[in-house]
This record gives sequence, C-alpha cells and structure tokens, in this order.
Amino acid sequence: MLNILVIGSGAREAMIVRKLSESKQNSNIYCLGTSRNPYIDKKTNLYVHDFILTDIVLKFINENLIDFAIIGPEVPLRDGISNLLENNDIPCIGPLKIYAQIETSKIFARKFIDKIGLSNYSPNYIVFNNNYEKIKSFSESKKIVVKYDGLHSGKGVKVQGVDFNDFSEIDISNINDNVIFEEKLEGEEFSLISVTDGNGRIQHFPPIQDYKRLLNNDLGPNTGSMGCLINNNNSLDFLNENDIFLAEKINKQIIDNLNSFGKIKNYRPGYRGFIYGSYIKTKDDKLYIIEFNCRLGDPEGIILLNMLKNDFLELCLELTSGYLKTDLEFRKNASLGVYLVPKNYPKKTYEKYDIYINKSLNKQNIVYGNVEEDIKELHLYSLSSRSLFYFVEGTSILDCRNKLYNDIKLVNGNLHYR
Ligand code: AMP
Ligand code: GLY
Repeated sequence: MLNILVIGSGAREAMIVRKLSESKQNSNIYCLGTSRNPYIDKKTNLYVHDFILTDIVLKFINENLIDFAIIGPEVPLRDGISNLLENNDIPCIGPLKIYAQIETSKIFARKFIDKIGLSNYSPNYIVFNNNYEKIKSFSESKKIVVKYDGLHSGKGVKVQGVDFNDFSEIDISNINDNVIFEEKLEGEEFSLISVTDGNGRIQHFPPIQDYKRLLNNDLGPNTGSMGCLINNNNSLDFLNENDIFLAEKINKQIIDNLNSFGKIKNYRPGYRGFIYGSYIKTKDDKLYIIEFNCRLGDPEGIILLNMLKNDFLELCLELTSGYLKTDLEFRKNASLGVYLVPKNYPKKTYEKYDIYINKSLNKQNIVYGNVEEDIKELHLYSLSSRSLFYFVEGTSILDCRNKLYNDIKLVNGNLHYR
C-alpha cells in the first residue's frame, strides 16, 4: 500500500486528501498540519504542530516510510521542505526552494519575467532601493500598487484607490528596499494553474476567477481569497481561446526557464508541482501577469480538483515518477464556491465561534478549513482563519449563484461570506 504525506491542513489540503482517498488505489495518508481539521483527522494520520519546520519533517520521515509527498501551502515551500524531502529520496509535489522564489519573492519574480523576455506582460514597475525621489516621480503620473516582498498571506499588496488614496499616505519610514511599486492595472483577473513533473511536461487546468476582497462589490481589505467561480464549458465569460492559450504559453515559459535556471545550479529535479499564474485582462484586451504562485490556489484548487475527472492519485504517481503522460479531463459544469470566515477576519480572532450546519445540506459540498470539532458533542467551532468552503455546481454561474446563496443560509454561526 502506498504511503503518502500531505503537508498543510486547510480546506485545499482537505480536498487533496478527499481526492486521494477517492482513488481506486488504496493508500495510507499521513498529514502534517497546523490545526486539527476534522475531515483530515478522520481520513489520515494527522500530526498537528504550530509550524511545519524542517526538523519536524525530518523526524517524521525518519520514523515513517513515505512514497511521495504533496505540499499545499507556500510557507513550507519557501522554507525548503521539498529540498529536504527530495534529498531523502521522497519525491515531492511542490517545487524546491530555488523555484518557489517565483512566489516567495515578488522582486525575484518580476526580474525573472524580464530576464526571460516576458517583460511585455508585466506592468511598469520600480523597486524602491531607497530612492524616494524616483518613486515619487513614478507615482505622480499614474495610479500605483505597493507590494511588500515576501509572503504575507495575500495581504501584502496595497492598491491605490482602494487601500490608500494618495502617495503621501504611504509611510516611507516603514519601507525598506524590498518593496515594488507597480502601475495599477484595471480589468478582470483570473488564475491559470498548471501542473508539471520536474522534467518540463505540463498540463493545464481551466481558467478560474477568485475574488480576494472581503466585502461585496470588491470592497474592503484583501484576504487570502473569499471565493471563486468558473462558468460552464471550463470557461470564463471575459476570456477567449487566445487569452487562455497565451496564459498557458506564459506558464509553460516560466516552467521551462525555471528548469534551465535550476539546471545551471545543479538542482534536481526541475520544477515539480503546481504553478499558478495570476493574470489580469485589461479593458484594451491586453493580458498582464499579476504574480505567480508555486502551489495550488486556495480556494481555486478545491473547485478544480472537484471537477477533475482523472484519478488524482494516479496523476500524482505520474508526477512523482517524473513522467506526466495523461491529459487532464474536467467536468464541464459551472461551479461557484465561497469561504465562510470568522467575524473579524482577516484580523486574527482568538475566540472560537459555534458553527451549526443543517443536516439537509449536502456534506460533499462542504470543505472544512480552519475549524475544530468537539468529538464528544460532534460540534464544530471556527478558529482564527477561513473556516468553511461551500461550493455548488450548476448549468451557469447564475444557476450556481441561486443555489449557493439559498443553501448557505443553512450554515449558521458568527461567520461572514460575500
Ligand atoms: P498578489 O498578492 O500579487 O496576487 O496581489 C493581490 C491582489 O492585488 C491581486 O489579486 C490584485 O487584485 C491586486 N494587484 C496586484 N498587482 C496589481 C497591479 N499591478 N494592478 C492592479 N491590481 C493589482
Ligand atoms: N486564491 C488565492 C491564493 O491561493 O493565493
């Protein structure tokens, strides 16, 4: 029997575990997570730690025989957990640290995009470098976006007109040289996620749109993401075939060039895992890169895995053997999902709120995130981050919308959704 290690214990990882356990191949799943996700707890041998650190993973793999690992969140990827696993002969779905920089450093990413000849797809940008005058003149002629380098759970980007009105409001004393100022782009955003085997073979998921602002009408602060949608026929209304083809081509170019970059530095394998291109299509029909992530999107990955027709475990085996040969296939329904989050999110809440889910709600459409269960009482509580993801499928986005906002009334607690 296969022994699989999943790292992470949020809703995305709960869906990964679900798909693995739906496979025709039996497996024994282990999970290293940061909370006792009740679904993951039932389906795997779950070990909970405050942080997933290399020494914890090393101890774990010394005590357990693991055939392959899947890493969900970006923090362990930044911290080189894949290097540790690969060095111990455990193939890993999740790239080595050197490749993960495409997400973990926004400055590395923009410079890499320039270096490989894709600068046409970046907005105008400038790295702070302590040159206040230069930044001021850059910001005078246009609306800007300020991006702090490093990982900030989707909250390290400040957009003019939304998070601040005028350049003078930016606290320069708080800024070191690890900040990028970008021209603000206006248009429709989408995510194009691909998966690759470490040897440059790549398959693409359909495009999907997430919405990151906390409140209706795209107001409020940026969050890890509040929900996502895809229309029927694996499409989004504002994209045509050429747009999708271009985004796929850009994702592939990033992978190919990261692989060459790794090869020069003698890193093996090449990029293996998911790559998530975040794009914006502007009103004048141009495509720009917002950023790249080195993992499956959350929650986009939940909806995409739910629609995936292939046996996910078998796909993982192809990836970890270094030979991806199967074409991905997806169901063609429209789908929409929203996160229910604790009342004060994205601020940290230390209070645990009761969650009541009406029994008539289809359990298959609920994915547990940052919640815990009182086993004796069979009762759910929210923790500090995104609690539950609820999704539906339908004939169109409108159909999904009607179903979802009707169903979701059956979940009660101190929770917010949009
Ligand atoms: P990121 O963490 O880079 O995905 O950025 C979070 C959000 O900030 C994106 O989903 C966009 O809504 C917004 N954003 C980032 N860069 C830009 C840009 N150059 N122009 C407009 N919006 C942006
Ligand atoms: N959907 C946002 C993220 O995964 O970062």
